[in-house]
Amino acid sequence: MQMTIFGSGYVGLVTGACMAETGNHVVCVDIDRKKIDRLNAGEVPIYEPGLDDYIARNREAGRLEFTTDVAKGVAHGLFQVIAVGTPPDEDGSADLQYVVAVANSIGQHMNDYRIVVDKSTVPVGTADKVKETIASALKKRGVAVEFDVVSNPEFLKEGAAISDFMKPDRIIIGTDNPRTTELLRALYEPFNRNHDRLITMDIRSAELTKYAANAMLATKISFMNELANIAELVGADIEKVRIGIGSDPRIGYHFIYPGAGYGGSCFPKDVRALGKSAARAGYTAQLLDAVEEVNNRQKHRVFEKILAHYQGNLKGKTVAVWGLSFKPKTDDMREASSRVLMESLWAAGARVRAYDPEAIEEVRRIYPDVTGLELCQSAKETLTGADVLAIMTEWQEFRSPDFQYIKQALKDPVVFDGRNLYDPGLLQSFGLRYFAIGRGGIPGVEDKSGGNYGRRSSDKLTSKAS
Ligand SMILES: NC(=O)c1ccc[n+]([C@@H]2O[C@H](COP(=O)([O-])OP(=O)(O)OC[C@H]3O[C@@H](n4cnc5c(N)ncnc54)[C@H](O)[C@@H]3O)[C@@H](O)[C@H]2O)c1
Repeated sequence: MQMTIFGSGYVGLVTGACMAETGNHVVCVDIDRKKIDRLNAGEVPIYEPGLDDYIARNREAGRLEFTTDVAKGVAHGLFQVIAVGTPPDEDGSADLQYVVAVANSIGQHMNDYRIVVDKSTVPVGTADKVKETIASALKKRGVAVEFDVVSNPEFLKEGAAISDFMKPDRIIIGTDNPRTTELLRALYEPFNRNHDRLITMDIRSAELTKYAANAMLATKISFMNELANIAELVGADIEKVRIGIGSDPRIGYHFIYPGAGYGGSCFPKDVRALGKSAARAGYTAQLLDAVEEVNNRQKHRVFEKILAHYQGNLKGKTVAVWGLSFKPKTDDMREASSRVLMESLWAAGARVRAYDPEAIEEVRRIYPDVTGLELCQSAKETLTGADVLAIMTEWQEFRSPDFQYIKQALKDPVVFDGRNLYDPGLLQSFGLRYFAIGRGGIPGVEDKSGGNYGRRSSDKLTSKAS
């Protein structure tokens, strides 16, 4: 089949590559000329495991093309997929300007029947907006061409995006026209062979399903972080509690890891945008507000522990930071917890020596002129001249480090673990002091210090750092 994808970011590139892999002819359109030039030169602008092979193979086979030529894109695909960003606007609502711009381009150029597939995460009612925008562009041109708009939210996870797309848990199709359901069923057939994963529903329910999924996952994380903070204060170990509750099949083990808070391009903005949509509809989404509030507070926990360890004075200290991306196997730094830590450290007069297996270039782009930041080539290198070590992303390569070396290299042998990677007893045996998240009451963990639990994330830091 012929398809066009607008937006060559994480979702657009993966969708394009996987659709081409199954034999479709895909044209990817982006307004970012530099990005398209890089893709046409064989470079993949993001890190996603396996993506470069998929793109190279399908470009070579002539099934995958990249262009900035909107007219060419609209002329090409029966399916016109919208996969552009929907970042938060000033008040946290989803900013639909990029989605509307694509709809307008489609209306300006289309001459035959098209199915417009919205893959971007968008508030309920956006399909109507897309329809109106296309209809009004067609009207301006004085032409009458049929089209349908379908909601097909994307559920891929960065870091496992290719396998998520190739073997999806579900394919949600929101439509008001049975004809489009059949065409989308045919398009998704190669990804739907093992058993039927296609779930069809009305458009508004499909739009809300995506927000509901992300809000549920974010809620699980904030719930566990809330429990972790309580565990620290009452002398319980959240890791034991996690196993204890996960064994209940109604709860399950997935997504109940405590840590330094969630980040990324989706959970923070989607929780906020859903809350704003609810408010606009006349409903105060108290639970969603709390999920965000708990997460914002959690992102400061590692900093607070370091600050408390140095009695509120971090001037002249150097912190080695392992892991910068918002989660492993991606270079995505959007809303990463490491940013809150590093920015708080700089504000408090400390320096950072940081390492990440994939996100270094992205960090350099975000913080080009920060004198307190030194980016290192390896985890070991960060330790040279550092006082303490903080772990912010659970990359595999940090799971079993040389503790002896860490002990010798740090000026002050203390590990602040924002992802609960280590066995406290083991670190203790190497003479390392260990601070983790929610691990009160067990030997080797010093979790009771650094609590600033009464603070709301909207309050200013009351420490000397502010
Ligand atoms: N990243 C994820 O893991 C993920 C997962 C599921 C859903 N989503 C949703 O998918 C959407 C895209 O997310 P992303 O992470 O891929 O975004 P991204 O920021 O990585 O990429 C968006 C791309 O769209 C391009 N663009 C903007 N306006 C355009 C236009 N008019 N025509 C063509 N291209 C245009 C940008 O230049 C950019 O390259 C968002 O709504 C997001 O919430 C993201």
